[in-house]
Amino acid sequence: MSQQKKAILTIEGREPIELPIYAGTLGPDVVDVSSLTAKGLFTYDPGFMSTAATKSDITFIDGDNGVLLHRGYAIADLAEKSDYLEVCYLLLNGELPNAEQKEKFVNMVRRHTMVHEQLQFFYRGFRRDAHPMAIMCGVVGALSAFYHDSTDINDPHSREVSAFRLIAKMPTIAAMSYKYSVGQPFQYPDNTLGYSENFLKMMFGTPCEPYVVNPVLAKAMDRIFILHADHEQNASTSTVRLAGSTGANPFACIASGIAALWGPSHGGANEAVLKMLDEIGDVKNLDAFVKRVKDKNDSTKLMGFGHRVYKNFDPRAKVMKQTCHEVLNTLGIHDPQLELAMALEEIALKDEYFVARKLYPNVDFYSGIILKAIGIPTSMFTVIFALSRTVGWIAHWNEMIGSPYKIGRPRQLYTGATERNYVAMSERK
Ligand code: ACO
Repeated sequence: MSQQKKAILTIEGREPIELPIYAGTLGPDVVDVSSLTAKGLFTYDPGFMSTAATKSDITFIDGDNGVLLHRGYAIADLAEKSDYLEVCYLLLNGELPNAEQKEKFVNMVRRHTMVHEQLQFFYRGFRRDAHPMAIMCGVVGALSAFYHDSTDINDPHSREVSAFRLIAKMPTIAAMSYKYSVGQPFQYPDNTLGYSENFLKMMFGTPCEPYVVNPVLAKAMDRIFILHADHEQNASTSTVRLAGSTGANPFACIASGIAALWGPSHGGANEAVLKMLDEIGDVKNLDAFVKRVKDKNDSTKLMGFGHRVYKNFDPRAKVMKQTCHEVLNTLGIHDPQLELAMALEEIALKDEYFVARKLYPNVDFYSGIILKAIGIPTSMFTVIFALSRTVGWIAHWNEMIGSPYKIGRPRQLYTGATERNYVAMSERK
């Protein structure tokens, strides 16, 4: 971060205020407004549309040009040439691993896949029809009660162990929430398998018969993990950072990220896309649906479209669409929902409403169709997102804790009542 220029803030009746401007390696310059509070001023930016909450070396997004880089590497290259654990290594360590580093990393993850046996009793406290994301929030938060030997956030080794534990145990925890909802026995991890294969086996295997993982599905699963691994300072990552800034332990912080991810404006969108396609039902209903989306008096949204940062194609959506076709073709699946999605995309991309607002398909528009082809039930879609994003959350949390940081504490523009006299009950209207 280098200071190149300065801004002068001129306010009527006040001395001009000089504000440093910093340049990053890529992206817009930032004006440092941190000195304003001492001068009795705050900046006002609802939704943090213009606020850089931190500096970071991990991920870069250029929303106007549809660019997403992890540690400098393009997402399309990573999706095509790396596997998920390699991307995890990259996000956490800043460089792609050499062969020896990768083997060591993969082995460390393998060593942590099992969860404390007592954890299964937590699941039994939930109703069988609980949403798996509700279970995930509870169970991941509960990890701090099981692994308190790695909650010293000021010890780099302890942080590393927590990172391995979270990355390794998330597939186990996610698969257990599915198994619990369908009333099947939990499956132990099989450490002879790769990360994605192991997850599929824990999801779909049973003790009654051998389960052979389809390599096409494992590859597709791995790609979905990669495409969701990190995305700069999005709502859930910012939540993790904010929680982490209080000194909370990593398991509690990741649980807060899972809660933030659950919303339909964020990670819940992949589930919402399939529900939307279900509701539309047929190509002949598309025009009426698009009309509703554009109606200001109707709250219907085209789920899987639009993004706070991307005002051009989401580069992840491009890879996702291609993967979707590959997977369905290889498996010989004909899915009418894919045809419906493509027809909807075509209409929206030509429609003035979407063009004017720069609304393009985001990562979630096609991911649900792939997940469905893999056999993942809709209620598990956001869980898969949480599983994949855990590494991004940890990388950001670790980056923050590993450098000087302050507790996150935004201020406000107060618009409520001014100070007034207390009104006794007998005098209240
Ligand atoms: N369908 C219809 N209209 C939309 C959509 C959409 N999906 N997204 C935005 N718009 C419209 C808004 O109504 C608004 O119109 P107006 O200017 O006439 O009032 C305009 O586009 C700008 O939208 P904002 O809501 O201000 O954009 P914002 O950046 O705050 O929201 C968001 C981004 C939340 C992602 C939004 O586009 C949306 O809700 N999309 C659908 C949900 C979704 O797919 N979320 C996944 C995001 S990606 C991820 O988290 C992995």
